[in-house]
Amino acid sequence: MGKKPETLRRIGMLLALLLCVALVASPAWAMGHGKKPAIKKAILLVTFGTSVPRAQKVFTLVDKAYRKAFPGMEIRWAYTAKFIRDKVAKKGLVWLAPEEALAKLMAQGYNRIAVQSLHVIAGAEFHDLLRVVHGFNGMSYGFKALVGNPLCATTGDIKRVVEAVLKAAPKARKKGEALVYMGHGTAHPGGVAYPAIAYVIGLHDPLAFLGTVEGYPTLEDVKAKLLAHKVKTAYLLPFMTVAGDHAMNDMAGDEPDSWKSVLQKAGIKCKPVIKPITEDPQVIQVWIDHTKTVLKHFK
Ligand code: CO
Repeated sequence: MGKKPETLRRIGMLLALLLCVALVASPAWAMGHGKKPAIKKAILLVTFGTSVPRAQKVFTLVDKAYRKAFPGMEIRWAYTAKFIRDKVAKKGLVWLAPEEALAKLMAQGYNRIAVQSLHVIAGAEFHDLLRVVHGFNGMSYGFKALVGNPLCATTGDIKRVVEAVLKAAPKARKKGEALVYMGHGTAHPGGVAYPAIAYVIGLHDPLAFLGTVEGYPTLEDVKAKLLAHKVKTAYLLPFMTVAGDHAMNDMAGDEPDSWKSVLQKAGIKCKPVIKPITEDPQVIQVWIDHTKTVLKHFK
């Protein structure tokens, strides 16, 4: 011991002195306006998350498709649902919140972040993400993060997604059998996308319908249409990023208020398909294209 703290104190003083000199001699540098840092890009994929291991398969598919589309690019993930992050943490998985992932990227010197929303529509979670990303912009000199649109942001997106989704409909479907898609739904203004999606689905296939768990159109709306069309059999499919809790319980569960139970009670035989629309490469491509649009701003 003895001498060491004294040496450290001297080094500290020297560093402080050097810093003072630097500050006086180069105020621009001190304010961060000196040499521009090299551009270091990354993609941050942001999703709600799911604690259902089987449903996590889609994340692997999206990750693979992104690595193929953007070779050599740093690709990270973040999950917006705290209760899900806490749940998977008990299994030893470290899932970061968007703000944690952005802070980490910033600390590691990444300064151009394409944050891709893996949400279906521009609802509450998407807008929360915009606010988080907005907060990060300007925190450090040269740091820029932009958010890529969710899956069904524009009418063009909706047409593209619906066409891909209907093309991937179960091949075993016979004439007269209906397709019933279950969207999440929301009271957020962005929820207007759901009736738009339902409309486009109907234009393509008169026996394909979309309802939502928590918004409009409702299951009752869909049921009325199925009965009006005298549908005897319907496939139930989640129009969601993951086929997790909502798909397994609200859609295909045995509880009396599940979509399957309600429709079967009305005389419609149900065939639930626990597979999200987002396992389709054509659908993933829509997100990839949204990310490409963001990256164009990072020249
Ligand atoms: Co939900």
